[in-house]
Amino acid sequence: MKLLKMHCLTIEEACLKLLSNKLDRFSVEDSRREILEELRKKVESCRKCPLWRTRKNPVFGEGPVDAEIMLIGLGPGYHENIEGRPFVGAAGKFLDKLLKLAGLDRSEVYITNVMKCYLPENKASEDEIEACTPYLDKQIEVIQPRIIVALGNVATEYLFKKFGLKRQSMGKIHGKIYRVSSLILQAEIIPMYHPASALRNPPLRSVLMEDWRRLGEHLREKSR
Ligand code: URA
Ligand code: SF4
Repeated sequence: MKLLKMHCLTIEEACLKLLSNKLDRFSVEDSRREILEELRKKVESCRKCPLWRTRKNPVFGEGPVDAEIMLIGLGPGYHENIEGRPFVGAAGKFLDKLLKLAGLDRSEVYITNVMKCYLPENKASEDEIEACTPYLDKQIEVIQPRIIVALGNVATEYLFKKFGLKRQSMGKIHGKIYRVSSLILQAEIIPMYHPASALRNPPLRSVLMEDWRRLGEHLREKSR
């Protein structure tokens, strides 16, 4: 009888623990959502660099707040500026194909950019990058992705610098996995050519496709 009672208590305790773990998980997710919403509001009214003048809609980023994979591009183009969402133009269509090659769906990854406002000339100055990247830093810190795919040179350079990795040409590092471990994040950074670069330079298309296929293999190995 005594034994049975002890057993019951243990189950009760286990149930309580399970419940509190579940609640913890929900509260972590809720607080992530809250912090990101606050940050989104700051971006919407941000005037820290001159790019606010030409933006129609800032592009904060989108995806699950607990996404394991985060993609970081350069910044909004014409279509993104109109819709306020990342990668909705031609490069975005190609990105969807690349995600599929890795066995991923857009809905399961978090997608954002180094720059949050429209880049009329598809480039950002050092000062503009410095002004805007605290938003990206916070997104990384809150979401805690296990894998960050850096799309193109600017995102790659920014992340390599942030995590103290040696800068090298994209030709050398694309598709490779760089493990970083700091107080704020433990993750793998994978630099890739930007999807738009394959639209401008068709031979890059097969390079990109192969890198994304291999990313899919890596993800499957990791989940085993
Ligand atoms: N190119 C980018 O780098 N980001 C976008 O969101 C769209 C195109
Ligand atoms: Fe602010 Fe970034 Fe937009 Fe510049 S690009 S105004 S720093 S949100």
